[in-house]
Amino acid sequence: MLKNKTIERYLQDFSCIIITGASSGIGRELLSRIEYSGTAAAVFNLSRTPPEGISKTLKFTHLKCDLSQPAHIEAVVVELNKLMPRMGRILLINNSGFGAYGEFPSPGIDHTLRMIDVNTRAPVHLTALLWNEMKSRGGQVANVASLAGYQPTPLMATYAATKAFLLNWSVALDAEGRANGVSCIAICPGPVSTNFSKAAGFESSTGLGGQTVQACVEESLQAMRKNRAQIIPGWKNRLLGFLSARLPKPLAAKIGLRMIRKLKLDRFVKKP
Ligand SMILES: NC(=O)c1ccc[n+]([C@@H]2O[C@H](COP(=O)([O-])OP(=O)(O)OC[C@H]3O[C@@H](n4cnc5c(N)ncnc54)[C@H](OP(=O)(O)O)[C@@H]3O)[C@@H](O)[C@H]2O)c1
Repeated sequence: MLKNKTIERYLQDFSCIIITGASSGIGRELLSRIEYSGTAAAVFNLSRTPPEGISKTLKFTHLKCDLSQPAHIEAVVVELNKLMPRMGRILLINNSGFGAYGEFPSPGIDHTLRMIDVNTRAPVHLTALLWNEMKSRGGQVANVASLAGYQPTPLMATYAATKAFLLNWSVALDAEGRANGVSCIAICPGPVSTNFSKAAGFESSTGLGGQTVQACVEESLQAMRKNRAQIIPGWKNRLLGFLSARLPKPLAAKIGLRMIRKLKLDRFVKKP
C-alpha cells in the first residue's frame, strides 16, 4: 500500500468513523486505508458479516446489521450512541449496496425492493439518525453512489435509479449541511472488480474490468480529503459521466440499451 501522508492526516482528523459494508470490496479497502492511517478514532462497521483480518491496533467494532431492515438500523444507532466517543468529528461512509441486472423486474421483486431499501432508504435513515450529533460535532458523510447514477440505464433500471437518488440527495445535502459544519460527498465509481457482480445475480465476474479497488479508493479518499461534493474515480469514467449527463435522457437511455446489449451480459447471469 502506498504511504500517502495527506490521506493519513485527513483520516486522523476524525474521532469516530462509521462505515457500512466494510466486509467486502470497496468498503473493505476503505477500512484497510483507515487502519493503515494509524488513526486513534473509534471505527465501526455495519454489515451482515464481519470484515476479516482487522489489526488489533485499530479501535474497531463490528455491529451486525442488515440495512434492509429499518428496525436493525434503529437498534444499531442506539448501540452506536452508547459506544461512540463523545467529542470530535464524525465520518460516516454509506457504502453498502448491491445491483441487479435484467429486464424489469428481473432478477425478482424481492431482490429489487431489498436493493431499493439498502441503496437508498438505509443511507437516508442512518444519516438522519446521526445528523444532529454530526451537526453539533462537525464531520463528513460519504455516499458510495455510482457512475450509473448519471443517466437512465436500461437493464439496470432500478439499480441506476437508486444511485441517481443517492447522487442527487448527497449533493443537495452537501449544500445544506456545510453551513452546519457537515459536508457530504457522492462517490461514483464505474466498474470495479469486487463481489458486486455476484451480488447482482451474475454467476461470475462479467469481465468488464474497470478500476482496481485500490485505485478507486485512493481517488475517492483524495476527493474526500479535498472536501469535494462528488467524485467519479478514473478519467475514462469521468469522461463517460460528463458526456452521458449532458445527453437528453431518452437518448442516453436508447444509447445505453444498445451498448449494454452489445456486452451480452446475459451469458453471465446465474441460472435459476
Ligand atoms: N463494484 C462496482 O463495480 C461498483 C460500481 C459502482 C458502485 N458500486 C457501489 O459500491 C458499493 C460497494 O460495493 P462493492 O463493489 O464493494 O460490492 P461488494 O464487494 O459486494 O460489497 C458490498 C457490501 O455491501 C454490504 N451489504 C450488502 N447488503 C447488505 C445489507 N442488507 N445490510 C448491510 N450491508 C449490506 C455487504 O456486506 P454483507 O454482505 O456482509 O452484509 C458488502 O460489505 C455499493 O454501494 C455498490 O453499489 C460498486
